[in-house]
Amino acid sequence: VANVHNLARPIVSTELAAALMLSHLGPALDIVAVTSSDGAGAGRLSFGAPHSANGEGCIWITGAETRPAEGSAAIVSSRIRLDFIRALHHLRASGHWPISEPGSISANARIHPTAVVHEGASIGAFCEIGPGTVVHAAVTLGERVIVGAGTVLGHDGFGYERQADDTPLHFPHLGRLIIEDDVAIGNLCSISRGTLDDTRIGHHTRIDDQVYVAHNVTIDENVLVMSGVRLNGRVHVASGCWLGTGALVREGCAIGQGATVGMGSVAVRSVEAGRVVAGNPARTLR
Ligand SMILES: CC(C)(COP(=O)(O)OP(=O)(O)OC[C@H]1O[C@@H](n2cnc3c(N)ncnc32)[C@H](O)[C@@H]1OP(=O)(O)O)[C@@H](O)C(=O)NCCC(=O)NCCS
Repeated sequence: VANVHNLARPIVSTELAAALMLSHLGPALDIVAVTSSDGAGAGRLSFGAPHSANGEGCIWITGAETRPAEGSAAIVSSRIRLDFIRALHHLRASGHWPISEPGSISANARIHPTAVVHEGASIGAFCEIGPGTVVHAAVTLGERVIVGAGTVLGHDGFGYERQADDTPLHFPHLGRLIIEDDVAIGNLCSISRGTLDDTRIGHHTRIDDQVYVAHNVTIDENVLVMSGVRLNGRVHVASGCWLGTGALVREGCAIGQGATVGMGSVAVRSVEAGRVVAGNPARTLR
């Protein structure tokens, strides 16, 4: 389910188009929220190819070749993701940025005195947060989540688009990092929040030391992630998988239920359920 981020106050679509110096098609609509394209709907700004299933009143940052559905608006762009990022920067600079939810920390959580927990984070009962670990605001930990030392949870991920002058512009993140009950995470790991939707780690998953998990990754339940694994953006690891030491998974790939990715492998394609793959590029062993 896509996240819908309600703005602190609405902005009119024609005003946003003018601020971005882009042309506007269709009616001037109040933008009340931002969302990924899956969450498109009335009053919501998203980007990509418009799809009509979401009804009228959507606002799309989209290419010149596409036309918004009747009753929807388009901000026309030749660099869709870049212009969506520019829109987010404009919303932030002009006081429209979504207001974040307040967090809560269970009285039964054990947080090491050198750990840093930012306001807005939610930490459930019997969690343990190790020395020097940083829990950013957009993090939700379920119950009994154990995190080692020096790990960083829920920072903005590495999302950029090059601008006209070739310098990279950062994608300001709005998604959360959600870690479900009974997950254990080791030392020196780095797990980003999602861009618009969330990064999510399922019940009973175990993550070893020095693991990198990028934005919008979903790891389902009961997965074993060995040390040094690196999961690029939007990877999906289904339940029961085993990712061997130092395995690397390309952005957007899906690792099917119960699959094994061998140590040091470079998985550049999705892996079917139950398979064992290894090598660079990873090939099916069985
Ligand atoms: C992928 C894996 C599960 C396969 O184990 P296996 O089924 O016993 O496979 P085998 O050892 O019989 O190897 C089969 C072939 O694949 C190759 N192979 C196995 N693992 C490989 C890997 N990670 N990368 C590249 N090739 C690999 C072997 O060299 C062998 O090739 P060959 O037939 O040409 O000699 C295992 O090698 C692995 O990587 N496990 C993860 C280990 C780990 O992360 N441990 C963490 C500490 S607990």
